[in-house]
Amino acid sequence: MDSFEYRDGRLHCEDLALDKVAERFGTPVYVYSRDAIERAYLNYAQALEGRDALVCYAVKANSNLAVLNVLARLGAGFDIVSLGELERVLKAGGLAKNIVFSGVGKQAHEIKRALEVGIRCFNIESEAELERVNTVAGECQQIADISFRVNPDVDAGTHPYISTGLKDNKFGIAITDAERIYCHANGLSHVNVVGMDCHIGSQLTEIAPFMDALDRLLVLVDKLAEQGVQIHHLDLGGGLGVCYTDETPPTPQAYIGAVLEKLGDRALGLIFEPGRSIVANAGVMLTQVEFLKCTDHKNFAIIDGAMNDLIRPSLYSAYQDIIPVALRKEGEAKTYDLVGPVCETGDFLGKDRDLNLQAGDLLAVCSAGAYGFVMSSNYNTRPRAAEVMVDDNEVFEVRARETLVDLMRGEVMLPKGH
Ligand code: LLP
Repeated sequence: MDSFEYRDGRLHCEDLALDKVAERFGTPVYVYSRDAIERAYLNYAQALEGRDALVCYAVKANSNLAVLNVLARLGAGFDIVSLGELERVLKAGGLAKNIVFSGVGKQAHEIKRALEVGIRCFNIESEAELERVNTVAGECQQIADISFRVNPDVDAGTHPYISTGLKDNKFGIAITDAERIYCHANGLSHVNVVGMDCHIGSQLTEIAPFMDALDRLLVLVDKLAEQGVQIHHLDLGGGLGVCYTDETPPTPQAYIGAVLEKLGDRALGLIFEPGRSIVANAGVMLTQVEFLKCTDHKNFAIIDGAMNDLIRPSLYSAYQDIIPVALRKEGEAKTYDLVGPVCETGDFLGKDRDLNLQAGDLLAVCSAGAYGFVMSSNYNTRPRAAEVMVDDNEVFEVRARETLVDLMRGEVMLPKGH
């Protein structure tokens, strides 16, 4: 979170005091640092310099157009999982030829549009999906470049909900079936086998599971070569963790260094699909304390941000730091649960946090740039938060706060007499 720091007791994002941002845009509000996003991306790009490689930012982590545009300007590629993400990337200036399309359930119209704009590769996750891509490409009189997401059956050692590389997950084709499926695909008329991909999970804090997966993929690449199926690129997915509290994940440099060492002089192109490690620590969510509710056995701070704004704590018991926007000199810290106004016991952003609070205080929920706003909802008919991006000492609203009119758009009542 080094683009966020205290200066004279006030939390800043780059050169801007965050109390000013809250005053101008209201709360809850997501605040992103352009500089932090750029530096995180460049960590990957620079470690891969001189290689046939592409860093395809995983759009799902934060799909705001301004975020995508900042990355597109640096030449990033993009990993998408829906037509909506495809259109966002194109709108933000991303190049179709740098897009890979992941996800287990690509629909025919999505495949068609992706072929029409000319994406780089479909990451196919099942035999049924292979048939669909081949059929749709045939109808469009095109040949689709494909890769299979291989499930290497390694334990990423992360939260079960975000671990994806074990054989009982829904993702990818089993490594034991891969040879047969690759050979079958090689004989189809409207697909062209170009790559192999995997994504074993998210928020990994060790290199070892990545290396285990890579070892298994390389064995498969060699087996396929013997059968005349040539793999031109390896896509190792995303998954590199970030520091939320005291984790010490490897840096992109260390991770990529280990990958390059293992690859030696193999002529394989490389793709990475980082999401969290590009944006998580480039964003905070600002929220305001509405009330303090202290009882004999528990203190609650009721804040205006809730599980609909940031669901990670409720959904994964994820820990995100919560810090004051202005450091208070007087008074003492108490232990609080920080809870939102949503009518669910699971509506909390933090538990047992030691904070020196008063009603009206502003708080920053840290590491909120990834899987924050994108997972927000309108539960309890709460408008989704605004998003702003800081660039040095300027701030731009990159998504307006929703209005109640936005929320009811498209809804109608039954006609009279029914
Ligand atoms: N590639 C594929 C195929 C993926 O499924 C994902 C994430 C990524 C790349 C990016 O992974 P990352 O670098 O961000 O770890 N909502 C959860 C995380 C879900 C991740 C889903 N897939 C959370 O808030 O922790």
